[in-house]
Amino acid sequence: MAAAFDDETGRPLLEVEELQIELMAEAGVVRAVDGVSFHIRRGETVTIIGESGSGKSTTAMGILRLLPPELAVLSGTARFQGVDVIADPRAVREVRGRSVSLIPQDPMTALSPVHTIGQQLREAVRLRDPRMSKADAAARAAELLARVHIPDPRAQLRRYPHQLSGGMLQRVLIAIALAGSPVLLVADEPTSALDVTVQAGILDLLLEVQENTGIGILMITHDIGVARLVSDRIHVMKDGRFVESGEAEQIVDDPRDPYTKKLLTAVPRLGPWDEDGGPPHAPEPRADSVALEEVR
Ligand SMILES: Nc1ncnc2c1ncn2[C@@H]1O[C@H](COP(=O)(O)OP(=O)(O)OP(=O)(O)O)[C@@H](O)[C@H]1O
Ligand SMILES: [Mg+2]
Repeated sequence: MAAAFDDETGRPLLEVEELQIELMAEAGVVRAVDGVSFHIRRGETVTIIGESGSGKSTTAMGILRLLPPELAVLSGTARFQGVDVIADPRAVREVRGRSVSLIPQDPMTALSPVHTIGQQLREAVRLRDPRMSKADAAARAAELLARVHIPDPRAQLRRYPHQLSGGMLQRVLIAIALAGSPVLLVADEPTSALDVTVQAGILDLLLEVQENTGIGILMITHDIGVARLVSDRIHVMKDGRFVESGEAEQIVDDPRDPYTKKLLTAVPRLGPWDEDGGPPHAPEPRADSVALEEVR
């Protein structure tokens, strides 16, 4: 069982060492990622936070080998359950979608507009198990939608993406990501395209999935409020490097690097929300505290 790997060998789900990624841009070579190292164990959420252009997405896309080979040159190691996908790019095909899934940033554009939610979920299910019957795939699709708390799953399966709200679509994308029973989720700004009030419900869902499955999460965000809520460890990225790494509490409560301190001064304010992921109350205007603290 893949999920037991971390326990059996004591190795993390993901180990990245001295990852370097150079992008062949028209203006010249950009070293977008300049020697980063981190690891994620079962049940852990590790966050990379940093400003726009710091190299967060390049890191995530690089370890998933989703950067075009003619554009990106990678060195270092990125081991998924011991398999180094930098040394052997083909190895990632075995892990991607099965043991590792990606939750993309923009739910509005990530799904095909001409296929129903059901068709897209069934395809994800059958990718995992091609011999599954149509009826079983449909049942599994409905079950996945129920798991991400989409009301009336059977009815939603017949709808097209444009008929669902952004928050509901992101839940569908999480359901699709879970179709292959992954051990690791890579979430690149999974909530930044959503309304602040909807963001909280999605983060809550990810934490619930993690609690139920022990899945590891690599979270990419520019939002310290999001990082604080979900992370075990935080790596602060600037110009392709980690300027500070540590336990979430240390980074948020006692940042050492001036850049981290600067990021913390731009703390967003998510409103409080119900434990059950229900609609949030209207956020009260607050002086200078972080509303997120209330849910921890
Ligand atoms: N296709 C590309 N061609 C050339 N340079 C690129 C390309 N994609 C990204 N870059 C450069 O690589 C660096 C890192 O970009 P990246 O998208 O990883 O940052 P990011 O931290 O994810 O930013 P954001 O918060 O805006 O998503 C930036 O300097 C960016 O300009
Ligand atoms: Mg990005």
